Amino acid sequence: MPKVIIIGHGAREHTIAEALVKGGAELYAFMSFRNAGLDELSEGRVKIEKEDNFKELINFIKQNGIDFAVVGPEAPLVVGIADALEKAQIPCIGPKIEAAQLEGSKIFTRQLLDKNNIKSNIIYEIFVSMDGVEAFIKELGVENVVVKPDGLTGGKGVKVYGDHLFSKQEIIDYCQKLVKNGMYFIIEEKLEGEEFTLQALVDGNRVVGNLLVQDFKRAYNDDKGPNTGGMGSYSIEDHSLPFIDVFDINEAISEMNKVVSAVKKETGTEYKGFLYGQFMKVKKGIKLVEFNVRLGDPEAMNVLPILKDNFVDLCYKILDGNLPVKLNFEKKATVCKYLAPEGYPVNPLRDQRIIIHKEKIEEIGAKFYYASVYKKDNSVYTTTSRAIGMLGISDTLEEAEKIAEKGVSFIEGKLFHRSDVGTKKILQKRIDHMKFIQNQ
Ligand code: AMP
Ligand code: GLY
Repeated sequence: MPKVIIIGHGAREHTIAEALVKGGAELYAFMSFRNAGLDELSEGRVKIEKEDNFKELINFIKQNGIDFAVVGPEAPLVVGIADALEKAQIPCIGPKIEAAQLEGSKIFTRQLLDKNNIKSNIIYEIFVSMDGVEAFIKELGVENVVVKPDGLTGGKGVKVYGDHLFSKQEIIDYCQKLVKNGMYFIIEEKLEGEEFTLQALVDGNRVVGNLLVQDFKRAYNDDKGPNTGGMGSYSIEDHSLPFIDVFDINEAISEMNKVVSAVKKETGTEYKGFLYGQFMKVKKGIKLVEFNVRLGDPEAMNVLPILKDNFVDLCYKILDGNLPVKLNFEKKATVCKYLAPEGYPVNPLRDQRIIIHKEKIEEIGAKFYYASVYKKDNSVYTTTSRAIGMLGISDTLEEAEKIAEKGVSFIEGKLFHRSDVGTKKILQKRIDHMKFIQNQ
C-alpha cells in the first residue's frame, strides 16, 4: 500500500485525498489547520504545521516512510516545495519553483508566451513606474484596460475596467498605488467572452486533460457582488460546455502543451503536476487569462470524483513521465456549490458553528467537502474563507444541480451560497452572451 502525503487544508485537498484513498493509498496529511475531512481520511496521521515549513514536512515524511507527496495549493509551490522535496529525495506531484512561475509571475507567463509565439497570448505591457502608463491606457482605450500586479495576490490584485475600475483616474490611482508599493505590474487588454477552466495532468512532457469546467467567481446570484475564490462550478455530462466547440478544446490543450515545452526550453525544468488553464473564448478564438500550477478550488470537485482511472496510478505515471494519452471520466454532470460565511469575502463571520446533517446528505446522494473550517470538540467552525463544498453528481446537469441545492439545505450555520450555480437559466445566459459576442 503506497504511503502518500497531501499538503494543504481545503476542499481541493479533501477531494484529492479522497481520490488517493480510493486509489489504494495510505493517506497522511500536512496542513496549517485541522481539516475534518483530511483528518478522517488519514485516520489521524496528520501534522498540523504551516504548509511552507519544509523542514518539518521532510521530517514527518521521513519518520513515516512516505512514498510521495501531492501538493494542493500554489503558495508552497511558488516558494520551492518541490525543489526542497527533491533534494530530500522525496517524489512530488507539483512543479518546481522555476516552472511554478507560470502562476507566481504573470510577467513570466506573458513573456514566455510572447517569446514562443503562443497565440492565445494577449496585448500587454509591463510597468514598474508611471512611465508610459497613460500612453498605453490611451492605446488600449480606457474601457479595455485590466491591471494586474505581478506575484500571488490571492485573487485580489486583478482589477478589470467596468468591474473594479470605472474611470481613467481610477486606473491611474491603482497603478500609482502599485508603484508606491514597489510592485511590477501588467496592463493588458480586457477580453470579452466566456471563461472556461481546463485542468490537466502533466508528466514533464505530455499534458493530459479533457474535461471543461466553468467557475462562478462573483459572490452573489446573477454574477453580482465582489470577486471571490469561486462560489461554485459545474461540468456537463459530455465534458464540454455548450458555448465551446471541440476545436477550442483541442486548441487549449495544444497551447498548454506548447507552454510546458517552452518552460522546459527556457528554464530547463520539466513540469510535473497539475496545470490549470483559465481561458476565455472571445470572438476570434480562445485567449489565455491565467495559469494556475495546481488544481482549481472548487473545480477539483468537478473532476476527481468522476475520474474512472486509478488516481494513485496516475500520480506514479506523472512521476515516471508516462501518462496515458487521455483520462477517463464517468459520463456525468457535476455541480458544486460553496457555502461561505456570511459577509465573505469582504467581512466574513468567523468562528461560527456549522451543523452538518451527514446522513441526510448521503441519503440524497450528494457529497460534501470541508474547506476552510476547523474542528474543535467535535464541532466544525468557520474561518474567514469558504466553508463547505457541496457536490451533486448525476446523468444531467439539471439533476446534479437539484442534488447540490438540496444538499446545501442540510447544512446549518451563518452561511450563504449561490443558488444559481449550474442552473438552466444561468447556462442560457452564458450561451446568449457567447452568441452576442460572435455576432458583434
Ligand atoms: P486572474 O487572477 O488572472 O485569474 O483574474 C481574475 C479574474 O479577472 C479572471 O478570472 C477574469 O474573470 C478576470 N480577468 C483577468 N484578466 C482578464 C482580462 N484580460 N480580460 C477580462 N477579464 C480578465
Ligand atoms: N476557482 C479558481 C481557482 O481555483 O483559481
